[in-house]
Order: sequence, then structure tokens, then C-alpha cells
Amino acid sequence: MKTVTTLEELFQARSELPSPVGLVPTMGFLHEGHLILMRQAKQTCASVVVSIFVNPTQFGPGEDLESYPRDIEHDLALLEHLGVDLVWLPTPEVMYPPNYQTWVEVSDVTQPLEGSFRPGHFRGVTTVVSKLFNAVRPDVAVFGQKDAQQVAVVKQMTRDLSYPIKIDVVPIVREGDGLALSSRNTYLKKPQRKAATVLYKSLRKAEAAYLEGERRADAIRRIMTDTIAEEPLASVQYVSCADLDTLQELEMITSKALLSMAVYVGQTRLIDNWILQP
Ligand code: PAF
Repeated sequence: MKTVTTLEELFQARSELPSPVGLVPTMGFLHEGHLILMRQAKQTCASVVVSIFVNPTQFGPGEDLESYPRDIEHDLALLEHLGVDLVWLPTPEVMYPPNYQTWVEVSDVTQPLEGSFRPGHFRGVTTVVSKLFNAVRPDVAVFGQKDAQQVAVVKQMTRDLSYPIKIDVVPIVREGDGLALSSRNTYLKKPQRKAATVLYKSLRKAEAAYLEGERRADAIRRIMTDTIAEEPLASVQYVSCADLDTLQELEMITSKALLSMAVYVGQTRLIDNWILQP
């Protein structure tokens, strides 16, 4: 496994990789939810590149950029063990050199949900992902369904900017009690960790109602809100029942719908989602 930092090193190492090349972009502090993305890339590609970069431009003021968990040594050991071919660890100066001025923005699909509570977040994501795409030139890029809106936004950007890249999406990996794996779960203290299962519980309750025939999106959203309200350590930022592609809120569920939410457990902001299949 090769590890590179500068663009020159990356271009040289990339040119030596057999195609097709798969890219897994990450912010590090890798867990099973990331490793499954890399296994997916290994299944479909001859070479796998992983980028690790805690992208400052996707964090808003007051968010956890400084405290975001990092453990590069552990990450590299996991990636080596997995048989990843190339790891790119750009510094902030490599990604955003002095006098940096160029941004990639996707309009409509970035507006609701995460976009409405984290202004500028997706501008940071699409800018860094397009820079990763331009530098690595992968054939396939793998993302996790955990960040459902990020998936929709990256797919839109890939279509709009004509990147010849296939976007593969891998299902959410959960703990035994349903909590979706996330690097931010490490912030949770013991009682909070227990309380955090309420996100999954609320999604499953909403799905159960859907399977029993409920099609009113408002009723589905209320089930999720009421379930979360039963947990004193949790407070809802938003719950949504939206069209899977446009992310617009639904009145009635008539096609694939995305249930999603952001919930604070203590100071930790957790997100989760579930797709309702017609
Ligand atoms: O999902 C993430 O970890 C990040 O948003 C990504 C895609 C690596 C861009 O910084």
C-alpha cells in the first residue's frame, strides 16, 4: 500500500494503478461502515484508492472541525490489512492552496434537510469531492447511504458536470441495537449511547406503519417525532419523509420515499435514514 500527500506524488502513483480504479473518499477515523465501502470498491475495481481528509470547508462555524476524531495510524493499519492500493492524505494546503477561489455548488437538492440546517456544508462537500474526482480520476466512487442527501447531491453533481464516474452506494452499517455507525458516535457518553437507539426505533416504527398501509407523509413524520420525544436525552432537529430523488417533502407516499432525521443526543448531532420501498 502506497501513501502519498502531494498532487505530484498522487498523479505518479495513480498512473501506475491498473484500471478500473475505485475511490473511497473519507474523513478518516475509519470504522466498519467505511471498511464496507472499501470492500465494495475492491469487488468491482482492480485498484482501490482511499482519500483521508477532514475537509474544513464543509464544517460550519461552531461545528466540530477541531474536535473531529482523528487516528491516522489506526486508519492506515486498517487500510493496509484490507489490501487498499493507494491512500491519499492531502494537507489543507494541498487541497486549498493560498488564494484558493473556486467552488462547486449544486442548487436545488442541497437546499432542504441538512442543507437548511448546515448552510455552506454541501458547497464544501461538492467542492472537495470534485477536486478528489479531478485528481484521482476514478472509474467508480463509493459512498455510504448513511449520508443520504450527500449521495443525492454527489449523484447530481456527477451528472451535471459529466464526470465519467459510476457512483456506488453502500447500505448503512448498524450496531446490534440499530445505531448507525458514525465517527461521531465516539462523542456519546454511556446513557447517551443508549438513548441514541431512538433514531433507529423511530424509523422502524414509521416503516411498520407504512407496511400496515399508512401513506400520509404527515402521519409518518409524526410517528418519528413522537417516538423521539419519548426519549428525554434526545431532541429532534428535523424529521422528513421526502421523495428519494428530489428530497422534496411528500404529502402522500406513492413512490420510493426517504425517511430521514437529525437528532441531538446531548451535544452530539446524529443523522439516520431509511428508504421506504413501494
Ligand atoms: O462523507 C464524508 O466523509 C465526507 O463528506 C466526504 C465525502 C469524504 C467529503 O469530505
